[in-house]
Amino acid sequence: MLNITVLVSGGGTNLQAIIDAVKDGRITNAKIGLVISSRSDAYALERAEKAGIATKVIRRRDAADIKDYEEKMLEALREAGTDLVVLAGFMTVLPEGMINAFENRIINIHPSLIPSFCGKGYYGLKVHEEALKRGVKITGATVHFVDKGCDTGPIILQKAVEIEPSDTPETLQKRVMEQAEWKILPKAVDLIANGKVSVKDNKTVIGGE
Ligand code: GAR
Repeated sequence: MLNITVLVSGGGTNLQAIIDAVKDGRITNAKIGLVISSRSDAYALERAEKAGIATKVIRRRDAADIKDYEEKMLEALREAGTDLVVLAGFMTVLPEGMINAFENRIINIHPSLIPSFCGKGYYGLKVHEEALKRGVKITGATVHFVDKGCDTGPIILQKAVEIEPSDTPETLQKRVMEQAEWKILPKAVDLIANGKVSVKDNKTVIGGE
């Protein structure tokens, strides 16, 4: 049974998508053991509590320095017996030691089709603002493993979403979540939990045992 720790910073709709998928059997062989939030006022914490999941708040600014933050995060992950870390709208940059300790065991959901509209400064609504500014007709979401770069790790799943002429960043964000994020994030967790994802030459191979 894969033991997941979900890292959140905000509303937690992607966390909710995982909670629901575990409950209704779209994710098998996995459980969420812990939710860590970078903010004490994140609504995601309420979602976790409602689902009976243990929560912790670990804030970067409460740590003396990045090393101290890394130690606090690693301690929490180890204490929970974490096998897989899921970044579900987590807005704090991960310390390098954590990425090394969990190589190919941290995944992130990003609200665009990587390599478009990703990297430093591209998060949340900003991603959709830039997609509309550029006038692309198709966007989407990507689940990928986290490496030392920014949105550069091996891609696990992607799903395209059409942009409509009347879209605002807000309507586009909502459609990308509904049509892509909430589907491919639980799907990626299920694939990993069932041993269906391997990494070779910075690419994933999906399927097989
Ligand atoms: C989601 O759209 C997620 O893809 C995005 O933040 C939102 C969090 O929503 N993540 C990033 O931009 C990461 N670079 P949620 O808290 O409701 O899941």
